[in-house]
Amino acid sequence: MTVTADAVPTRLLKSSAKQSYDPDVDVDWDAPLVDGLWFMQPERLSLYGTPLWETLDEQQRIELSRHEVASIAGVGLWFELILMQMMIREVYDADPRVARTHYALTEVGDECRHSVMFGQLIDRLGVPAYGPTPYVHRLGRGFKTLASGVSAYASILVAEEILDRWQRELMRDERVQPLSRMVSRIHVLEEARHMSFAREQIQAAVPGLSRRALGWHRTVTANTSFMVARSLVNPQVYAAVGLDPREARRQALANPHYQQTMAWMGERVLGFLDEQGLIGRAQRGTWRRSLLMP
Ligand SMILES: [Fe+2]
Ligand SMILES: [Fe+2]
Repeated sequence: MTVTADAVPTRLLKSSAKQSYDPDVDVDWDAPLVDGLWFMQPERLSLYGTPLWETLDEQQRIELSRHEVASIAGVGLWFELILMQMMIREVYDADPRVARTHYALTEVGDECRHSVMFGQLIDRLGVPAYGPTPYVHRLGRGFKTLASGVSAYASILVAEEILDRWQRELMRDERVQPLSRMVSRIHVLEEARHMSFAREQIQAAVPGLSRRALGWHRTVTANTSFMVARSLVNPQVYAAVGLDPREARRQALANPHYQQTMAWMGERVLGFLDEQGLIGRAQRGTWRRSLLMP
């Protein structure tokens, strides 16, 4: 990884010292869930507006939002486990005296608390631990062991940015449970620093890449992003409200509302990756199938 100036990590370290959360203290885990409130924004649910959606009553739709938010949190947690390992591997060879190393470790500390928070959230929601499908779970094992450099940070950035867009909207939505909103608020605040760090790492490293390396990082980033995006909603969530997971998945992927939601989640980060030359013509098909690119 290219050595970068200390300015950004130093600023991020100061900000971390000033404003960080302890989910054990800052989230009221014992507060009762509020009857009649959604667990996430209904319009962002994968089935919103589909023929299957029309067959559900209000109570079932709210129940689906409980399972779908837990699935997304579970995939967030899964990706945090991957990124903590990637960053720890990188720090293994780093100079322990410099701000960049200190910040990387601080970020791992943030993610560690987030993963505890998401785990507690899923438990509090009283739903299964969905996570990604077994196939993607296995692929993640290889990725966390091997990925490094630009595509490691670009994949981290994609996962962080798409969840950020969704959580920023969720945390302001008064129709949503205070618990979901508080977890999102904490995550949004701390992830803003992570995204600055990832962007800085990418900007510093891309100019030094050979053509071949650039091609490799473009491919890895597109494929990882595809896996993350397609994993957000585990099809088993549909079974929780009595729907056939296969048919529901088919309707979700073909749902223009959901396609718009995914493209909205990907809009900002794709603009950045494109600016950095990280989206080649050969990867456009993969990006489109991820739904993050319209
Ligand atoms: Fe996080
Ligand atoms: Fe993060």
